[in-house]
Order: sequence, then structure tokens, then C-alpha cells
Amino acid sequence: MNTKIFKIDPSNIDVVAEESLKAAGKSLADGKLVVFPTETVYGLGADGTNPDAARRIYEAKGRPSDNPLIIHIAEPSDAEQYAYTEPMYYALAAAFMPGPLTVVLPAKDSVPKTVTAGLSTVAIRCPSHPIAHRLIEFAGRAIAAPSANLSGSPSPTCGDHAISDMNGRVDIIIDGGECSVGLESTIVKIDDGRLTLLRPGGITPEELSIFDPELKIADAVLGALPEGTRPLSPGMKYKHYAPQAPLVLLDGDNEQIFKYISRQTDKFGMICYREEVEIYVRRGVPRERVFVLGSRNDLAEQARNLFAVLRETDRFSLDCLFAPMPSYQGLGMAVYNRMIRAAAHQIIKL
Ligand code: TXA
Ligand code: MG
Repeated sequence: MNTKIFKIDPSNIDVVAEESLKAAGKSLADGKLVVFPTETVYGLGADGTNPDAARRIYEAKGRPSDNPLIIHIAEPSDAEQYAYTEPMYYALAAAFMPGPLTVVLPAKDSVPKTVTAGLSTVAIRCPSHPIAHRLIEFAGRAIAAPSANLSGSPSPTCGDHAISDMNGRVDIIIDGGECSVGLESTIVKIDDGRLTLLRPGGITPEELSIFDPELKIADAVLGALPEGTRPLSPGMKYKHYAPQAPLVLLDGDNEQIFKYISRQTDKFGMICYREEVEIYVRRGVPRERVFVLGSRNDLAEQARNLFAVLRETDRFSLDCLFAPMPSYQGLGMAVYNRMIRAAAHQIIKL
């Protein structure tokens, strides 16, 4: 397939950009596939009300068809067309929409089964990215979109990632530069006013607990690690976001980690915080194999960089990749959740 690529500066949507977005919106309405930026990650969009269009998403991504899609709306009240809302939905919408929050609600019949993968619920999100917002408006309907990576790879957080995974597989790719959050949206399920966190993201559990002090956290979020944290059960089912080299998380303090890596004989890479780069280099790790996640205390920077760093490591044919075990306070929970998956739960307790 011949993919058209539109480059648009999200901070300056001029008349030319508007024309491109109008054309992309029309393509969506015609059942075509359009990759577009959001504030979280790039999405692989199709008409969320058209069962055949939604089916094409699964083909383009190589995604198992039992994994449901999120539908993207332009305004929070548009949810009424697709889901049975309740007051808690509007409370969350007032606080966090548009933005990196996805809400799971009982689905109306207007949502095709190919979108919900047969579930009785639907996941809905109202992105804040100006390109995403305008595109949904032009399409005039909800846009179903998973992250625009090939199934199993890290989600794309800039135009180049989206192009490298999706060129030739979709009709249009809109390159709108870098995503500001860098990890997929927080997903929360609403049940009669009660909240369950299904996936951590840019909206933190602490922020959600203001709306439900008894916020439940689904087991899968923290990986349901067995005692002793050395589970090594890398079932493909749990392997997402995976770099080519196997990633292993090192659970220990800096000294323990330095000691551990000094015993390694493989060609390994080290993901670390900016503050520690020089220490690894002094200890003999070649500089190009030290990958900076961000500053130790800047969780937003770590979230923004994680997927790009995982992709970057693929350029070095490494035997193995190490990273310190992240904390899971605040936004850290989202980073932690993605890293344990990227590592297929391989954690070494030092
Ligand atoms: O930030 C995001 O959410 C990005 C951008 C493009 O919006 N999208 C994204 O989609 O991350 P995807 O398909 O990669 O992840 C959607 C997740 C999947 O884990 C899926 O299982 C879950 O949402 N999901 C979708 N519908 C659901 C439902 N009805 N109940 C529970 N989980 C659902
Ligand atoms: Mg995804």
C-alpha cells in the first residue's frame, strides 16, 4: 500500500494543515486507516463505528483480535453515543479530559463487536493533542485506535517510530513530532461509581483516588509478581514493548548494580538515570551502550523517553540489556508497569 505522509506542526495548525486534516478525516470516514499523534503515543485509527474498518486495524498491526480497541472522541459528552455514562464519568471528565485518561463503561449497540472484541464494555478517550482533536472532528465520528506499533514493539512516540512501523500498512501517517506524555493513557473502569485502575499512565493512581478513595488496582498492573521477585515466566502473552535484546531489571542499590554488571561478559547495554551515566562509563561500559532514561527524580522525563530508549537499544545488536528496577510512586507506576512487561518479568533481586 502506498502510504501518504503529512507533516504537521501541532503548535501551528495553519490552512494547509487544516486541509490535510480534513482529507485525513474524510479518509477515516471512508473506512481507511490513518496513523495520528496524540499526547500519549501515536494511534492507528479507523472509523470506530464501522466493523470492517476496525477489523483492518488488527491486520495492519498483527494484533490478536481478542484485544479490544479504545475509541477516541472529540468532546467528553460524545461518549453518550457509545456508552452508558454515569455521574462518575462526568466527574473524571471534568478533571482529566481532554487528556491521557481512558474510561471503560458499558457499551451501547452502536459500537461494533470488532472494536470491543465482544466485551459488553467500551474504552473511551478524549485526547488533548490538537491534531488528534481536529482529526476526530473532521471524521465526524469516534475513531478506534490502538497504539500504532507493530504488535509486541514499543509504542511509537514520534513520527519516525510511527513511519518505521506503519509505512506501507496504512493509508495516511500524520507526523506531528514528539508525544508529550510518551506512555499510553491511564485506563480506569467505572462500575456504579467505583473505580478500578486497569493500566497506569499519565493520570496517576493518587489523582484517581481523589474520586474514589478505595480505588482498586487490577493485579496485572503491578505484574502480580510472585514472592521473591524472580518469576521468570516470560510467556509471550505478557511480553510487550520488547526490545530485541532481552531486558533484565536489576533490583538493588547502585553499588549492588555496579558490582553485578562488572561481572558481565556479554555485550550488554545499560539503561540508567542521567546522574549515573559517567559512573558506568568509568566502569568500562562503552558510552554508546549506556542509555539515558532521564533524571532520577524526573518521572515525567522517564515516561517520555522510555519507548524511544527501548527502540534505540535495537541499533546495537546487544546480547542483553539491564535497567534498574523503577519505583512505582505516582507516574512511576506507569513506567514500572511498562518496564516489567518489556522485561517479560525478568527481575534479578540483588
Ligand atoms: O494512550 C492510549 O491509550 C493510546 C492512544 C493511541 O490513544 N492507545 C492505546 O491503545 O494504548 P492500545 O490498543 O495499545 O491499548 C488499549 C488497551 C488494551 O490493553 C486493551 O486490552 C484495553 O485498552 N481495553 C480496550 N477496551 C477495553 C475494555 N472494554 N475493557 C478493558 N480493557 C480494554
Ligand atoms: Mg498498545
